[in-house]
Amino acid sequence: MGSLNKEATDILAASRAWIAEFAEEGIEGFEREAVPSAPLAPPPSSEATPVSDVAQVAAADPLPGSLDAPNWPEQPTLEQVRASLGDCTRCRLSEQRTQIVFHDGNPNADLMFVGEGPGEQEDLRGIPFCGRAGELLTSMIEKGLGISRSDVYICNIVKCRPPKNRTPMADEVSTCRPFLDGQIAAVRPKVIVALGKPASSLLLGRDIAITRVRGTWQEYRGIPVMPTFHPAFILRQYTAENRRLVWEDLKAALARSQA
Ligand code: URA
Repeated sequence: MGSLNKEATDILAASRAWIAEFAEEGIEGFEREAVPSAPLAPPPSSEATPVSDVAQVAAADPLPGSLDAPNWPEQPTLEQVRASLGDCTRCRLSEQRTQIVFHDGNPNADLMFVGEGPGEQEDLRGIPFCGRAGELLTSMIEKGLGISRSDVYICNIVKCRPPKNRTPMADEVSTCRPFLDGQIAAVRPKVIVALGKPASSLLLGRDIAITRVRGTWQEYRGIPVMPTFHPAFILRQYTAENRRLVWEDLKAALARSQA
C-alpha cells in the first residue's frame, strides 16, 4: 500500500511538473489527433496547421546562402540585409501582414534581443516589441538594466506577423532565417538574448524546454546566447519568481556583453 501511495504521489508530482512546463510555454490544450511533424516545404494551402517545431529548421540549415542571402560579405550592413529581404513574399506570412517588421535599436549594439514574431501592434507600427510584451521588455531593459532601449538591437525570428499571433511554422522560420543570420552577421553582438522557446530552439539547434535551458549559457556561431522567458509569458504568469529569473538572466547577459 505504501509503495502504491508513493507511486501515485510520484505520478502526481511528475504530472504537475509537466503541466507547469506546458503552461510556461503557453500551451493551454491539446488537439485530440496528433499533429504531423513540421513541414519544411510550405503546405498546399494557406490554412496550414501551425507547427511549433522550429528545431527542425535549426538542425537542417547551415548558413545564409541557401535562399536570398546571396552575396553578402562576411559582415553585411543591415541595409544590405534589408534590401535583399525586399518586399518579401517568400512565405505565406506575407499574405496577411500589414508590413515587414525588420528591427529596432542600435546597429552596433553589444546586446541583441531575438523574439518570436511581430504581434498586432508591431504589424501596424513596423517596430518589434512595441505592444504589451514590448512595453515589459522595454521596462526590463530601461528600469531593470538601466540602459536605453535604443542601446540594444531588437528583432524577431520571423519578420511578418503570424495570423492570430500563432507560433511561426517551421517552413516560415526556415524561410526567414537567412535574414536573422544576416542581422546577426551585421550587428555582431557580443551577447544574444533569446526570448522564449521558438527563438531559443532556433538558435540552439534543437527543440528545447525553455524552463530547462533558461539561465544557462549557450552559443550560436561563436556568440554567447542567453535563453530566457519571453515577456509575453511573464505577462501571463506574472509571478515574483518568474520576474526574478528573467532579471537574473538579463543581468548576466548585460554583464557579459560589457566584459
Ligand atoms: N512582439 C515582437 O516583436 N516579438 C515577439 O516575439 C512578441 C511581440
